[in-house]
Amino acid sequence: MKKIDLFPLSIFSFPLGFPDDGKTDARGEWIARILEMRRDSAPPRSEISAWTGDVKGYAALHAQPLFVPLFSAIARGLTAYLAEMSIDPAQFDLYVTRSWGVVAEKNERVNRHAHLQSHLSVAYYLQTPAEGGRLAFLMSDAPNEFLPGLFESRMGSLFKGPRTAANSSTTLVDVAEGDLVVFPSKTVHATEPHQSDEPRISISADIVVTLKDATTHEFGLPRLSDWKKISN
Ligand SMILES: [Fe+2]
Repeated sequence: MKKIDLFPLSIFSFPLGFPDDGKTDARGEWIARILEMRRDSAPPRSEISAWTGDVKGYAALHAQPLFVPLFSAIARGLTAYLAEMSIDPAQFDLYVTRSWGVVAEKNERVNRHAHLQSHLSVAYYLQTPAEGGRLAFLMSDAPNEFLPGLFESRMGSLFKGPRTAANSSTTLVDVAEGDLVVFPSKTVHATEPHQSDEPRISISADIVVTLKDATTHEFGLPRLSDWKKISN
């Protein structure tokens, strides 16, 4: 018998690490700035929601000089992502449209969502204590799910195991400090509840991709310099 797995979703994790010039503690400064933002904003909507700066007025870390080295490194990761996907990075411009900190205290989580206004998204991990919640990727209509919800945990009694990518609608990804995870923004994702007394701290960013030359492409955004605002 031959099993043919079709159409895999590829998530990349790059061990970006932290800038080290021997003088400044970039990681420590980034963590301190994000905790400052959290302190100065309203608390999360519920007791189990992680603090996410994008809905608290802190969605432009990329505009702050402190984070410039981080976005240079993220750009390198994104270029590597495109190359790994056999897409020519030289034909695209990458724009960060928003970026924000995420802080999860014990028992807090990020509920399932997707960044549908964006093309590529990244998550960069500053602090990942042991027992930290893992990053989960979900597929609401898994291709092999021939009954609705067949692969969801409530149907677990039907499984003999093992779980594989082919019979799961959720895949958990382990992340480490300094990792940059890159994925298509439309991918539904979440985090497991955080289990440690020490918070998990990460940075998320949304990336829009434009074509340097869109003249022969029906799809793909034209370069930003060709856009014109027509509203007031
Ligand atoms: Fe997200």
